[in-house]
Amino acid sequence: MNVGIKGFGAYAPENVVDNAYFESFLETSDEWISKMTGIKERRWAGEDEDTTDLAYKASVKAIEDAGIEANDIDMIIVATSTGEYPFPTVGNMLQNRLGISKVASMDQLAACSGFMYGLINAKQFVQSGDYKNILVVGVDKLSKITDMTDRSTAILFGDGAGAAVVSEVSEGRGILSYELGSDGSGGEYLYLNPDNGKIFMNGREVFKFAVRIMGEASNRAVEKAGLQSEDVDMFIPHQANIRIMESARERLGIPKEKMSVSVDKFGNTSAASIPLSIAQELENNRIKDDDVLVFVGFGGGLTWGAITLKWGK
Ligand code: COA
Repeated sequence: MNVGIKGFGAYAPENVVDNAYFESFLETSDEWISKMTGIKERRWAGEDEDTTDLAYKASVKAIEDAGIEANDIDMIIVATSTGEYPFPTVGNMLQNRLGISKVASMDQLAACSGFMYGLINAKQFVQSGDYKNILVVGVDKLSKITDMTDRSTAILFGDGAGAAVVSEVSEGRGILSYELGSDGSGGEYLYLNPDNGKIFMNGREVFKFAVRIMGEASNRAVEKAGLQSEDVDMFIPHQANIRIMESARERLGIPKEKMSVSVDKFGNTSAASIPLSIAQELENNRIKDDDVLVFVGFGGGLTWGAITLKWGK
């Protein structure tokens, strides 16, 4: 059975926060942020818009795009690190908001690699024949766990959501290969600090890890699909930092124009970053049916995940 993405949608909050905003309370500059990260602006949700609201808005679009009704969804998997509560989960609350009858719903945590983990979990349930249409959401409201007094992290993060309906797709399309991994020995480099509820990051260590793993995992995923880098139509890496993304692109041997870049507009939105980039490329007609896409994420844990997918229903 070929399992892929039958419907897709994303949502970013309206409030745009540019780099200049940080100059008023941190020793930083638009120039430093742009040059060192590639970020120009990010979106922050207000008090009235929490993680489940973002997830809901992306999900409605994905369900519509799939040409199904909410009640046709038979499982919800939400990848997030920023749910309102440990329980009920965002998945539980989203199920209620969507008015879906009593289907399984859960959150799963793999930080910025979450959407990769979610897609691959969903693939297994669909492939087993036990489930037909699984709503996979990558959502984060990082603004609520960002330490605004720490200039090396405050400038990086943003809020957003993306959703995919994972179902059987036509022959030859869908997920061709994947690799998921983790290395708990690097947990100390990026974590949610229980003392203040904010993100702690050792930027330099995370940077080194990211450059290595993004290239390696993408290469392995492409190889597992029996493809070469020339076969890849679009490379969609986790939008953490343009310098990390560029280095992964070079390791994979993909030309510049085939890499999706949305980090300039959204910053690092964790589980939402790959979906927001997919949405941008769909909007710009840069993804067509039968295009070979490579997604690759990395994040806290440390975790990673790469997927090769042939686009289309
Ligand atoms: N404005 C100005 N200077 C800043 C700054 C900011 N916003 N943030 C950090 N700096 C300073 C540091 O304080 C340091 O100053 P010092 O040399 O006087 O000590 C200098 O810039 C270099 O810091 P360093 O952390 O070594 O820089 P870097 O090249 O590693 O870049 C990051 C910093 C955060 C951009 C980079 O480490 C990074 O992107 N890391 C990965 C982050 C990531 O992807 N995280 C998410 C994972 S999902």
